[in-house]
Amino acid sequence: MSSIAPLLEVAIKSAGYGTAQVLRSLSFSMGTERVAIVGRNSTGKTTLCKVATGLLQNAQGSIRFDGKEILGRRPLQIGRAGVGYVPQGRRVFNSLTVEEHFKMLGTRRASDWPIERIVELFPALEARRTSLARTLSGGEQQMLAIGRAVAVGPKLLIMDEPSEGLAPVIINNLVEACRALIAETSMGIIVVEQNINVAVRLADRVLVMDRGEIVADMTTPEFARRPDLQEAYLGVSRSVDGL
Ligand SMILES: Nc1ncnc2c1ncn2[C@@H]1O[C@H](COP(=O)(O)OP(=O)(O)OP(=O)(O)O)[C@@H](O)[C@H]1O
Ligand SMILES: [Mg+2]
Repeated sequence: MSSIAPLLEVAIKSAGYGTAQVLRSLSFSMGTERVAIVGRNSTGKTTLCKVATGLLQNAQGSIRFDGKEILGRRPLQIGRAGVGYVPQGRRVFNSLTVEEHFKMLGTRRASDWPIERIVELFPALEARRTSLARTLSGGEQQMLAIGRAVAVGPKLLIMDEPSEGLAPVIINNLVEACRALIAETSMGIIVVEQNINVAVRLADRVLVMDRGEIVADMTTPEFARRPDLQEAYLGVSRSVDGL
């Protein structure tokens, strides 16, 4: 039974800030797969991430993760249950070195990833192990943020706009590193992206979000063949390339 149970089942009825409702009726379920969530600015993508990680506590509905209800649980409990989070804006500790970020996690479990394995996946970090995070490039900081979330062996990794603010060549390096990571692990991944070319290179399935709801849910190849959807919900006038 457990092998066929979904990893994540989201059935949110509402969530928001004060009287402003951001998420409406929003449902999807996923197994151990790679799902991209795309949608234009301010549509509620980060709000969904915050609800799923326990940072925003006022949501109505249900989120089942690995067979257990997690809606209403605290971020630390949800993290311990196996949800890793790379927040939008790559939060790293400026005054800590790369290595210190990993030491601080105090990783010890069998599922944990040692720093050696992380720097194999993100070779750019190897040469920067003793560098302060504030001296890293944007791409290196993003790799550090992802590596740190992966180091504790999550069952589900949520990444919120990993390519935001990075130059195209850096994005390409990051995507290649993430693809290597994906190939090595069996974790589920949710990647929120406004860059649809990044989304389709990382995910097998695409959910389109608009005004707090999921308005389309399809495989990545199907999404690539739907420039109409890309234009309507993402405001892009050309279709996905590179598939
Ligand atoms: N802490 C907050 N307090 C009040 N309103 C907020 C807060 N955070 C977000 N909002 C509002 O909620 C709505 C959804 O924001 P959210 O950050 O979830 O969108 P998003 O899809 O992640 O956008 P982006 O693509 O710009 O990251 C926006 O109108 C935003 O202004
Ligand atoms: Mg956001």
